Amino acid sequence: MTPTYSYYRDILRGQRMPCAFVDVDLLDENIAAIKARAGAKTIRVASKSVRVPWALRRILDADPVYQGVMAYNAHEAVFLSEQGFDDILLGYPMWREGDIRAVCGELRKGKRIVLMVDASEQIGHTAQVGLAEGVTIPLCIDVDMSSSFPGIYFGVRRSPITAPQHLEPLLNALDKAKGVSLVGLMGYEAQIAGLGERNPANGMANLLIPFLKRRSVRELAARRAKAVEAIRARGHTLDLVNGGGTGSMESTREEPDVTEITVGSGFFSSSQFDYYTAFRHNPAAAYAIEVVRIPMPGLYTCAGGGYPASGPASKDKLPLPYLPEGAKLLGQEGAGEVQTPIAYNGPEKLGLGEPVFLRHFKAGELFERFNTALLISKGKVIDEVPTYRGMGKCFL
Ligand SMILES: Cc1ncc(COP(=O)(O)O)c(C=O)c1O
Repeated sequence: MTPTYSYYRDILRGQRMPCAFVDVDLLDENIAAIKARAGAKTIRVASKSVRVPWALRRILDADPVYQGVMAYNAHEAVFLSEQGFDDILLGYPMWREGDIRAVCGELRKGKRIVLMVDASEQIGHTAQVGLAEGVTIPLCIDVDMSSSFPGIYFGVRRSPITAPQHLEPLLNALDKAKGVSLVGLMGYEAQIAGLGERNPANGMANLLIPFLKRRSVRELAARRAKAVEAIRARGHTLDLVNGGGTGSMESTREEPDVTEITVGSGFFSSSQFDYYTAFRHNPAAAYAIEVVRIPMPGLYTCAGGGYPASGPASKDKLPLPYLPEGAKLLGQEGAGEVQTPIAYNGPEKLGLGEPVFLRHFKAGELFERFNTALLISKGKVIDEVPTYRGMGKCFL
């Protein structure tokens, strides 16, 4: 059952606003639903889409299908390792020597942190640090998973490895390098995983997206298989072949070479994930802002609330009024730095001091705005846990 406005209003009465919360009951349902979508693959949890160590732990402890973390920064990986997490894959390349050295410190303690590379220079550079530090740094190669259709680039600009032959210089560098070893291959199909078919902000493109997705899925399954084959042919054993994200589980799980799917956003199911045809998870995280003035009937101005999301600037990146149902931002003002006017003409009484609940477009970014998350379960606040920010951590 979807919680109502009065459910959260009553639970959060007396809390200082703005405040962010996690509905643990909805989160637990999401954890079970995401497990059911994984097929025979394990799931690596994308920390960037969570950013609350308590929640990372709850997901990983929920079921053996959840194995390891995908981190977004070397210092974050070290921090998580120090917090007791293990089996950490850096989802993005790192260059700074100090960052790589910090990871070596954890490797020396017996922890597993795998660095991401997509160029031979990174391999040589990382190998030098590994040698100097007296450790072997495990590496994963990131291959591009975008599609190029006539007049449409369908995907993101990440790895330069767009064909198996582009792996050659990296494999040659690995042959020469000491201080590193290849353990994995990753390909992130962002255009499948992160793009819904029904996002109103995409307008008419929504008619084309399902068709492009189907074509792209076929193409990239073949590309990933060829990349795996090329690496194995050079004598490497791959411990992990990683793919996907919340929005692509149904296609990524069908690829036989893939061993694990990365999932992050689906656990809190931010508004970005309201627009997919294949699945719908519960909105398990949101935030409350307080009505502080009423400029005219039907208009409620709240303190704070302006937390837009990263990515190309478009309307969908604004916070989405969640409860009471029917609440809306004003086109002219959006969600503001210090004030957010909300238009509402429904049955709930929104007096001064009452909350309005909003959801962020991105699941993890929400918690960069709050020191803590209130945990709600069965009608009450059961705990308050720190976010990365609340632990004094700002990694990117
Ligand atoms: C490398 C990589 N894998 C997987 C994901 C999927 O994460 P999520 O499930 O949060 O969409 C992302 C998100 O950007 C990513 O960058």
